Amino acid sequence: MRYLTFALGKGRLAEQTLDLLEQIGITCEEMRDKSSRKLIFVNEELKLRFFLSKGPDVPTYVEYGAADIGVAGRDTILEEGRKVHEVLDLGYGRCRMCICGPRGAGEYLKHHELIRVATKYPNIAKDYFYNIKHQTVEIIKLNGSIELAPIVGLSEVICDIVETGSTLRENGLSVLEEVCPLSARMIVNPVSMRMESERIKDLIQRLRVVI
Ligand code: PRP
Repeated sequence: MRYLTFALGKGRLAEQTLDLLEQIGITCEEMRDKSSRKLIFVNEELKLRFFLSKGPDVPTYVEYGAADIGVAGRDTILEEGRKVHEVLDLGYGRCRMCICGPRGAGEYLKHHELIRVATKYPNIAKDYFYNIKHQTVEIIKLNGSIELAPIVGLSEVICDIVETGSTLRENGLSVLEEVCPLSARMIVNPVSMRMESERIKDLIQRLRVVI
């Protein structure tokens, strides 16, 4: 039997994924050691391999078949646009992709004005404004602390993740429009899906029971 390889995005998502896998008897104790710099882990008994990568790289590893299975946020999966099968909503990491800004910015959206949109997710923002709203905007890619942009005058609005809403509240911003709901998803390489269909289907089935 060959190894089935999992790519997990480093951080909280990986922790929650390990918790979930544990519930169906798949363990990888070594991976819990936060002080370790090791990147790849093996469960010899079950013929499974796990590795940790940066979240946005998970769909890349899965598209190329370097990992058979990956777990990533739907935000990352949509943004990366890789050729992978999304097979399961894992139910955690729930949040929303939203267009946010100071209350007054709602008018710019209503009147389809040519505004600037700051975001870590330029593809999601482009798709929303161009294909769904049919509004021409200028997209400005940032790498974090997106809420700063409208405060310091870099953009009129942002396209960003809202979980509890406290970052927005503490910075005098609000949700103006909702783009889509998000959560952690399991993705599978299309070739692996065919070649290892029995093992993968069994895994999905067992996960469904505990989710
Ligand atoms: C995310 C997101 C928001 C915040 C939303 O940022 O970009 O800033 O969390 O969460 P809340 O609604 O619960 O306040 P993250 O902390 O991942 O860091 P970043 O700003 O570097 O992207």
